[in-house]
Amino acid sequence: MHGGLLIDQLAGGNANGSPESTTHSLDFVIVGAGVSGINAAYRVQSALPHVNYTILEGRHELGGTWSLFKYPGIRSDSDLHTYGFSFNPWEKSNPIATGESITAYMKATTRKFGIDKRISFNHKVAAAEWRSDEQRWRLEVNNEGRRKIYWAKFVIMGTGYYDYEKPLKADIPGLERFQGTRVHPQFWPEDLDFKGKKMVVIGSGATAVTILPAVVEKGVGSVTQLQRSPGYIVNMPQPKPEDPLPYYQRILPRWMVLRWLRFQFVLVPYLLYLLCQTFPKLMRWFFRSEARKALPKDFPMDPNLQPKYNPWDQRVCFVPDNDFFKAFHTGRARIVTDTIRTVTEDGIELNSGEKLEADIIVTATGLNLQVCGGIPISVDGKPVHIPDCYVWRATMLSGVPNFAVIIGYVNASWTLGADASSRLIVRLFKHLEDNKYTNATPHITEEEKKDPVQMLTLKSTYVRLANGNLPHAGRTGPWKPRDNYFLDSWTASRARLEDGLAFGRVAT
Ligand SMILES: Cc1cc2nc3c(=O)[nH]c(=O)nc-3n(C[C@H](O)[C@H](O)[C@H](O)COP(=O)(O)OP(=O)(O)OC[C@H]3O[C@@H](n4cnc5c(N)ncnc54)[C@H](O)[C@@H]3O)c2cc1C
Ligand SMILES: *[C@@H]1O[C@H](CO)[C@@H](O)[C@H](O)[C@H]1NC(C)=O
Ligand SMILES: *[C@@H]1O[C@H](CO)[C@@H](O)[C@H](O)[C@H]1NC(C)=O
Repeated sequence: MHGGLLIDQLAGGNANGSPESTTHSLDFVIVGAGVSGINAAYRVQSALPHVNYTILEGRHELGGTWSLFKYPGIRSDSDLHTYGFSFNPWEKSNPIATGESITAYMKATTRKFGIDKRISFNHKVAAAEWRSDEQRWRLEVNNEGRRKIYWAKFVIMGTGYYDYEKPLKADIPGLERFQGTRVHPQFWPEDLDFKGKKMVVIGSGATAVTILPAVVEKGVGSVTQLQRSPGYIVNMPQPKPEDPLPYYQRILPRWMVLRWLRFQFVLVPYLLYLLCQTFPKLMRWFFRSEARKALPKDFPMDPNLQPKYNPWDQRVCFVPDNDFFKAFHTGRARIVTDTIRTVTEDGIELNSGEKLEADIIVTATGLNLQVCGGIPISVDGKPVHIPDCYVWRATMLSGVPNFAVIIGYVNASWTLGADASSRLIVRLFKHLEDNKYTNATPHITEEEKKDPVQMLTLKSTYVRLANGNLPHAGRTGPWKPRDNYFLDSWTASRARLEDGLAFGRVAT
């Protein structure tokens, strides 16, 4: 804190500052220029046109996930009608889109709404402290070695939900012995040559399911998806630009069509979710028979596409136009459901006794979950230990004033949840202004803390592993985790702000 003292004094109007440090003072600072940060920026500037804000982005480019991940075939596994921004609907016919086209869409959106001018790239937030004496946040920022200080009345964390630098440590015995190439999807070398090579992809999630057909198409010698347990993989047909439009799309105005598509893509997955909860056996049979139709006749369904859990207990993985299933017709792809005894110099020995030879091993085993970008947070010098916090309306941390963490849905399009949070925040900020409050802090009682639940309600292994890093949710009132979009959307615009929040003001 003492290092900051000098700079705080300089902040009192000395425009020259010192060469290493400049000071900025704003209403909102948004950290991260991924979908969450950009969406929040739009909500702030459209609902609160009189306030100023900036987005601090640690990397050289916006896009977050879609700019970082470069593995072959990188694409969304949810539809862009709901994943896209509600204020700038996805116009293309394909609901599932490539990483590159999502980044391009995000760039175009920021230009269209003037958000691009508000982003400072290569500005990595190194620490954030709430200062009660100032009633503001003080952020330490590293701009390519230059140290900058930002002050903000309100901070919004659009930093995503995983560590950008450290991948999840894959717990794979003997991996260090492997003499071939080891690749983690988060750090895929763009010049990796896999033509004609033998590849093993370890994992069963969206990433593994994306990589497999993509490397088959790009000439891999053979690819084996090695999974401990199978997941649900469901086709999502992709209308092509040249396909004739459905009748309603020809007669209705474009904006109405786009709005309808969005509604449909919110509703249908939710109905599907309800169906899966109500008729798990039937849905299980349905998904299985759909997959079977697209697969080669002799494909061993059991155990490879026979999940142990019911559909939607974990995220259902959507694939465009059956591309995953079609890859098995080439004879160069297979799935093996087994556990690893050990990795050797040239492959993987399985507990069944089988040996998989490999030139390249891809560990698509998950992300290192983390919230707030790993930034140390403190309140008046006291560090905030995030796993001890409870989340107020899935958006703010107990005990932390004027601070929002944007965590979207994990079983529906992320952005829908992120937008609900952003709308809630701008409403809260208006409430502060209208009542001349300078702070709002979530406060949870000991009673409400009892019997906490997980914030992310998926059962996948990496979510289980990471729950130690995440804040908690409660069972009642504003502490409950996110539910469905319709309810959360109502909460964002209508729910009482007073429940669980304490307001304060300091006379100035
Ligand atoms: C491969 C993959 C596929 C996915 N597919 C889908 C999908 O189809 N549908 C879906 O709903 N979700 C999907 N997800 C989840 C996905 O992460 C979210 O949809 C979404 O990208 C999260 O957006 P975000 O803006 O919150 O975070 P991110 O996209 O992760 O962006 C965070 C930004 O914050 C910046 N940042 C982090 N720390 C700092 C710091 N200290 N200072 C400054 N800047 C910082 C980062 O550089 C980054 O630009 C996928 C995730 C992965 C990894
Ligand atoms: C932003 O607005 C605040 C008033 O809320 C003001 O003090 C500050 O100087 C403004 N910052 C910039 C960069 O315009
Ligand atoms: C996501 O999971 C939550 C909690 O399990 C549930 O309430 C919600 O309806 C689910 N949403 C979708 C779209 O599956």
